[in-house]
Amino acid sequence: MPTPVVVVHGGVRVSAPRAEDPEADEEAVDRLRWIAQSAYRAMEAGGSALDAVELAVRLMEDDPRFNAGYGSALNLLGEVEVDASIMDGHRMRAGAVGGVKGVRHAVSLARAVMERTPHILLVGEGAREFARKLGLGGDDDLIHEKRAEYRRRVLEALRSGGGPKRLRSLLDLMPMYGVADTVGAVAVDSEGRLAAATSTGGLTLKLPGRVGDSAIIGAGTYASRTAACSGTGIGEAAMLVLGAYRVVKWIGDGKSPQEAAEEVLVEIHRTTGYAFGFISVRADGEIGVAQTGYGLFWAAGGDGWVEGGVKKERPKGLLT
Ligand code: GLY
Repeated sequence: MPTPVVVVHGGVRVSAPRAEDPEADEEAVDRLRWIAQSAYRAMEAGGSALDAVELAVRLMEDDPRFNAGYGSALNLLGEVEVDASIMDGHRMRAGAVGGVKGVRHAVSLARAVMERTPHILLVGEGAREFARKLGLGGDDDLIHEKRAEYRRRVLEALRSGGGPKRLRSLLDLMPMYGVADTVGAVAVDSEGRLAAATSTGGLTLKLPGRVGDSAIIGAGTYASRTAACSGTGIGEAAMLVLGAYRVVKWIGDGKSPQEAAEEVLVEIHRTTGYAFGFISVRADGEIGVAQTGYGLFWAAGGDGWVEGGVKKERPKGLLT
């Protein structure tokens, strides 16, 4: 019998924060615990794993602490362009959107791509127009003042010739302008159906048009009848190694969700040097939470229990 569970992440920190704010971190984790519980309750009330991951990600897209939906990271031009994907492992189907403007709940748009089109990935203006047609946004205001202020400060530093040292100190401050990178969720329901979803504003000050792993099935999101996985970090790294697919595949090959996530992270670090994080769940309800950065915000909820934290330990065997 599967043990139903929902696991969520509010992103990994890919650089060391200059100033720690444990109170803010604890508040973010509390919120993630509440989100994991809410999504679990949605399954108890008859929803599927797919409904649970969509709900969990929507709740994080509403919270400007997280880099998704409202309060997403800004690109170089000061715009928000979001990426998201969702996968139904039971029915082996998926949907995704990339580089979309004006859509607060990109995860729901990704689900609409999966359920209402013959395609998997819609990008840019086409995706935005699709959102407008379905009443799923297209003109939502996603810019939070903190993100705008951060972009202003970075551009000022660049213009004033403050040099790499000044810029570096601003990059270190980045976590104060949002918890970390990207949000995601994985779940297994009482029928053993698995699902995964991921949503993000992408990398801060990315080039306009850049699309990351969160829009790419197999890179940032994957689910099968065996396991589900969602990732967070520098998307280019997960795209190079198809990180989420590999975690799911290795769980299918017999590794535990924790071992599979850690081993793929070590592989990503060895091949690209980038920090990354994964959450994973197997069909029996066993979960994995792993990261190679400076803290992965996560929570998990099941029948009568909820846990979570900022995972800072890195896998053994990581060469730093
Ligand atoms: N992992 C999010 C991104 O790179 O866009």
